[in-house]
This record gives sequence, C-alpha cells and structure tokens, in this order.
Amino acid sequence: MIEIKEVTYSYDDDSAHLALDGVSLDIEQGEFLAIVGHNGSGKSTLAKMLNALIVPDSGSVTVAGMDTADEDRTLDIRRKVGIVFQNPDNQIVTTVVEEDVGFGPENLGIPTEEILQRVAKALDAVGMTEYAKSAPHMLSGGQKQRIAIAGVLAIQPEVLVLDEATAMLDPIGRKAVLEIAKRMNKERGITVVMITQYMEEAVIADRVVVMNGGRVAMQGTPGEIFRRGDELRAIRLDVPVMVELREKLEGLGLLGESNALTVDEMAEEICPLLLKN
Ligand SMILES: Nc1ncnc2c1ncn2[C@@H]1O[C@H](COP(=O)(O)OP(=O)(O)O)[C@@H](O)[C@H]1O
Ligand SMILES: [Mg+2]
Repeated sequence: MIEIKEVTYSYDDDSAHLALDGVSLDIEQGEFLAIVGHNGSGKSTLAKMLNALIVPDSGSVTVAGMDTADEDRTLDIRRKVGIVFQNPDNQIVTTVVEEDVGFGPENLGIPTEEILQRVAKALDAVGMTEYAKSAPHMLSGGQKQRIAIAGVLAIQPEVLVLDEATAMLDPIGRKAVLEIAKRMNKERGITVVMITQYMEEAVIADRVVVMNGGRVAMQGTPGEIFRRGDELRAIRLDVPVMVELREKLEGLGLLGESNALTVDEMAEEICPLLLKN
C-alpha cells in the first residue's frame, strides 16, 4: 500500500540534523501497524510523509503507486491517507460537529448530498451520532478526538494514521479511540498506522516498528519486539507491564519462556502454576 524507500529529511537547510535518516518501510494493505519511539525519534515526520504533508529530501514515498513528491497527485494521496493528530483542539475547525466532520470531504470537492451521507456514516462509526448538532468545544477530549477520526473517515481513506491520537486523552477516551481503530481495521479493512507512546497499545498491532534517532531500529510482531526488552530500554522505551512481570517471573525461574503480552495471556500462563502448588 505504502512504500518508503531510503527516506531522509531535515527541517533545517544545513541537514546536519536529520529528522529521518535512511528510513525504508513497506506498509501492507489491511495491516495494523504500530510505530513506537521516544520523543524526537522521527515518528511524526514519518507520519507527515504518508500523505504528502512533507516530502523526502532524498529517497521516495509512494502511496498506491503514487509518488508523494508528484504535486499532481497530492489530492489523490490525501483521499487515500488520512491523519489524526495528537491535540484534538487543533483539529476542530468549525462550531458544529457535523460541519466539522464534513470539512475534509468538502475540501476534496465531494458533492453536498454525498457529504451528508458520509458525515452520518462517519459519526455512527465513532459512536457520536447524537452529538451531530453539538458544539465541538463543549465535548471531552476523547469525544473531540472521535470527531477528528470521523472527519478522516468521511474522506473514506484506505489508510488511517493516528499520530499519538490517544496521548492527551483519559483512559476511557484512549480506549474508545483504540477500539475504533481496531474495528475500522477488522471490519472495513482500513490499513491502520498507529503511532503511540503507550507500549500496551502496540501489543494489539500486527507489526511493531521501533524508531530511534530518525531510523527504524527494530521491527517485528509484538511477540518478537517485546522479547527484546533490554534493547527497548537501551533506547529509552518501556515494555508493557505484563512483559515486565513475565521477565521477573522468568528471571526467578517461576515461569518458562513465555509469550504472554496481555493480562489474559498472563493469567493463562500463571493459573496452572498456582493450581499446581
Ligand atoms: N517543525 C520542526 N522544525 C524543526 N525541527 C523539527 C520540527 N519538527 C520536528 N523537528 C525535529 O525533527 C526530529 C524528529 O521529530 P518528530 O518527527 O516530531 O519526532 P517524534 O514525533 O518521534 O517525537 C526531532 O529532532 C525534532 O526536534
Ligand atoms: Mg510526534
């Protein structure tokens, strides 16, 4: 779906400090990809490459075969790849929820009749139908973020990028956003790229990419990545709490090599041990 080849990018002209430093990555159609990395590792720069908000200094990004550096294709690319950013307040542009959700499709020149249908469908998908006539600034952070997602869904993208879209939310808002992303991926086959600081959120992905210093430091399934706790900690990242517990139990010789990543999986590993004793 998206091919990133040897991409470098610098925000300053002298290019001494590279925000992206030789990144290559393929994003498969229909996959749920998590991207993790500490602050400044290049995640947002990479996200902005995905819908031509910025283009590489060298190397290339192609979306469904379209080069993001080709300005004639920018609109087509933005129809395919929608991004939700961290701060919900910065993504609200109008004073009524339904107008806000319709803003993206309107900018892409979709006929009004169809916009209305898309807005209704998008609000339904994020569970915000009853707020269609509300004022966005009256909503909670999580609700605003669901509106922002609806705005992207109304574009009917093939790829949904969430750039730390859960970072400013409370646990309930975070969970709702995560659930929507999962559902859009499973039910509609939308490719999801979820950038997150929360390792627990990366656990649900098909694949995890770890960024460090503008490069891809590691990639693999959550099971593979979270076996490498020491390497993650060396680049200032955490592991999910359950992985920490697993490491402790393995270290104490109480648990053989385990792949548990979630509370449920850990319970399944531990219960037989408890019953045995
Ligand atoms: N608008 C900008 N102007 C100058 N430097 C920037 C800008 N945005 C990001 N950077 C720099 O680029 C690097 C990568 O940043 P970013 O992609 O935002 O990382 P992340 O999203 O992982 O925190 C950092 O060193 C950051 O300071
Ligand atoms: Mg960022």
